[in-house]
Amino acid sequence: MNIQPTTLGMIPGKWTAAAALTETGTMNILSLATQTFTVLASTDDPLHFPVNDYTEASKTVTTTSGDVAVTYRLYEHLTYVAHPVDADYQSMNVKVPVRINGKDVDTTNVPILFATSIGGYMSSSNASSGRTGTPPAGSTDLPPGVVPGTLPPGVVPGMLPGMSNRNTDLALAAGYVVVEPGARGRDNQAADGTYYGKAPAAIVDLKAAVRYLRYNDAIMPGNANWIVSAGSSAGGALSALLGASGNNPLYDSYLKVLGAAEADDRIFASADFCPITDLEHADMSYEWEFGAVARNGALVLQTLSTQMASAFPAYLASLNLQGRNNFGAITADNYLQYLVQTYLIPSANKYLLALTDDARTTYLTAHTWISWSGSSASFSASDYLAYVGRKKGLPAFDAFDLSAPENSLFGNSTINARHFTNFSLRQVSGDTNAVLDSDLQTLVNLMNPMYFIAQGCSGCAPHWWIRHGSKDTDTALTVITNLATSLENQGKDVNTRLYWDAGHGANEDPEDFIAWIAQITGYQPASTSP
Ligand code: DHB
Repeated sequence: MNIQPTTLGMIPGKWTAAAALTETGTMNILSLATQTFTVLASTDDPLHFPVNDYTEASKTVTTTSGDVAVTYRLYEHLTYVAHPVDADYQSMNVKVPVRINGKDVDTTNVPILFATSIGGYMSSSNASSGRTGTPPAGSTDLPPGVVPGTLPPGVVPGMLPGMSNRNTDLALAAGYVVVEPGARGRDNQAADGTYYGKAPAAIVDLKAAVRYLRYNDAIMPGNANWIVSAGSSAGGALSALLGASGNNPLYDSYLKVLGAAEADDRIFASADFCPITDLEHADMSYEWEFGAVARNGALVLQTLSTQMASAFPAYLASLNLQGRNNFGAITADNYLQYLVQTYLIPSANKYLLALTDDARTTYLTAHTWISWSGSSASFSASDYLAYVGRKKGLPAFDAFDLSAPENSLFGNSTINARHFTNFSLRQVSGDTNAVLDSDLQTLVNLMNPMYFIAQGCSGCAPHWWIRHGSKDTDTALTVITNLATSLENQGKDVNTRLYWDAGHGANEDPEDFIAWIAQITGYQPASTSP
């Protein structure tokens, strides 16, 4: 049964009869008692999903079980807020598979992969005038000369034409709905020079897009209770934040101004590839982990590195992390050991066991810091850290000269870049008592999933997929494992893996990711056999 909202003054969605009865005393109780009915978004509603306004497209997706031919409906440039600041960014594309290997598929109740292309905390364009911009970290099928995670000369931020993404392709081939939201970012600047994409714009936009999906659930393909977000690097951080901050009222005022749908913004699962997150504690973590193998040998930097690192144990203690397998409390004294035994050795073993005997011997000869028992690797944390080295200078995130992407993320409408830690603020100002303005501290919290997890995780996604390369030193490994462990400690289902020897942006098991989505939702993917 479909009911227009104007009739009942109700918000769109799927409602049970019991809910209807309390709203409308005059309805026929007996006939409704066992029914679910649907309240449709009205067609003059700017947030109404345009069911019949699509083009059809097709592609062939290569999988390990053969090529899969997918025909899908493409809904482009759906603006997901009623009052956009810039609809080129606050819009999304929706892809709905209709035929897979020649067979019709029913997408009424399939998972929704919500895949952001955000990189570098830059804007991600969904412009109807053609897409250009920053390829996300980890992109592999780029035009010649384009480096993932960087902006080609003369190109405005957003998505590059023709770029495809392994997760979204495989999701389509599995029969899932794919949503690709644009979002504002730190580079967005109006004609008058003001910035309109600084923190927390990107997360507010992604929440608004999730709300659009839930608001239109009754008329949209896909099950909005099965939204799985995914992103890499800054996109991974935003995916984690989306997963940790569901329905948090701290974002309400921002969402209201944009005319976001009045709807739930919790998600079912959060997939975070190399998330550059917990920015407020990223510098102390980086120095604690890599300081001993400092890239810059100058004494002043070593002194500063030691000072920064000295704040890490107290921060770690405040998280009260308990290790897996009865490890007990994780402390600054045992954390490296925990990382080695829980994450690094299993990662190395998976890699080494998959090699031929000859290839393994060659690898081990070139990596003498690794001992091999015949079935398991062993090595020390310090040898591992010396091997991977540090990529970034000091401070890695809150740069003294305000040159880091994160400084720019925490700018405001008139200032491009600001400090966002007390340490750098004090160092630069020379005022040892300086503290961030309280409005800035609020913004830092609004960008940090750890802030919401520490508060009890009430709006957290129940399922998490966390991936990171063992050679990725864009952030400290502790940032990734603090996220994973704090979620585990909150009883969440967390699937974590380090890809051995992989760098920033890696995604080495995308088919496992798609299978995991089926497993956590209980959805049976469409058969992919031709
Ligand atoms: C990204 C990488 C970084 O090292 C960083 O500090 C912020 C963002 C990225 O690739 O998105």
